[in-house]
Amino acid sequence: MTYLEKEDKELYWYIEDEQNRQEYEIELIASENYVSEAVMEASGSILTNKYSEGYPGKRYYAGQTNIDKIENLAIERAKKLFGAQYVNVQPLSGSPANLAVYITVLKPGDTVLGLNLDQWWHLSHGHPLNFSWLLYNIIGYSIDKDTELINMDEVERLATENKPKMIIAGFSAYSRDLDWARFRKIADKVWAVLMADISHIAGLIAGKVLENPIPYCDIVTTTTHKTLRWPRGAIIMSKEQFWPALARAVFPWVQWWPHENLIAAKAVAFKEALEDNFKTYSRQVVDNARVLAKSLQEVGFRIVSGGTDNHLMLVDVFGSFGVTWKEVEITLEKIWISVNKNMIPYDPRKPLDPSGIRVWTAAITTRWMKENEMKIIVSLIFEAISNKDNEVKLASLKQKIKELCIKFPIYKK
Ligand SMILES: Cc1ncc(COP(=O)(O)O)c(C=O)c1O
Repeated sequence: MTYLEKEDKELYWYIEDEQNRQEYEIELIASENYVSEAVMEASGSILTNKYSEGYPGKRYYAGQTNIDKIENLAIERAKKLFGAQYVNVQPLSGSPANLAVYITVLKPGDTVLGLNLDQWWHLSHGHPLNFSWLLYNIIGYSIDKDTELINMDEVERLATENKPKMIIAGFSAYSRDLDWARFRKIADKVWAVLMADISHIAGLIAGKVLENPIPYCDIVTTTTHKTLRWPRGAIIMSKEQFWPALARAVFPWVQWWPHENLIAAKAVAFKEALEDNFKTYSRQVVDNARVLAKSLQEVGFRIVSGGTDNHLMLVDVFGSFGVTWKEVEITLEKIWISVNKNMIPYDPRKPLDPSGIRVWTAAITTRWMKENEMKIIVSLIFEAISNKDNEVKLASLKQKIKELCIKFPIYKK
């Protein structure tokens, strides 16, 4: 960042400081990961200078020879990675990608079946704070109270009773395998479009650790910056019959100029994800999550649904130890571990003050931490929470975290 350092010292130091935070902090917030240097180079490249509204071969401005090649490369790589028929790499983020799907499939007032609002949905799937709530008739299926798994019988019953135009299978904190075949069967039974939002699990699907929903779904959206260690943004994949309409919904209905620097960065990241190393990474993410969950259980934390099949887990901190998420967050922040609050199913507490925290292993696995480090991290978490008022102890734990992070550098190699 030599130019930035010369031109804008203040901003330079903020970024430097943030880099130190990322290097020396254990990142367990389920959504955050580290992109490669190559992805950052493409994101920060001269492609940011180009306006390129439209699609390859059909742009409104001249000078698109290289831009078209780059966007086509990104599309072809994404198709190969997921086995998708059609891919749009332009969505700026997950929420606009979902909006484009709704515009394509639904009319205002249509019925949509998605996961209950208080149970691991994403806001763009029908939350009252989101446009989707205003425009559509949202019906919610739920998590079973005893098993804490999605109740597929209820999905079928609600679909049969309400005849939704679209069923959404998309989750932000669900840690168990999804029954894609059953979702398809239910959608077929009521002639609904089946949409999956795989934002959280896309990397594990690309890495061939989880089942690919593409063969079962009509439309699949995903953000590109979670288990996929890609730049900020999203893609939409679909079957042919939705195609011209979906392309129009992304451009010009929902957004105008695509950010070609980020599309180039997506292309780099798709290439990385096609390599064998990414499969090894994805397997390790899941292996680490299992060990993290088991180790948390061994020291007394209740894990929602009793464990995890993927990269994340919900920890019922209030139910386990009577500590609030806020106390946990503040305590762990003091030793440089980041976590985020999350409601648990049928949470007795309020949405802004829930019982749980959500943790994942995607970022720490990018540092190539493995099973042994998961056990160390749990013992440090437990020690910190047991000594939450002991500042001296917390300072010594922070030092231990720093030493651990130095052994597994992200960028400062
Ligand atoms: C399942 C799911 N869909 C969509 C989104 C929205 O993505 P973005 O933040 O890029 O708009 C998220 C992000 O947190 C998500 O978890």
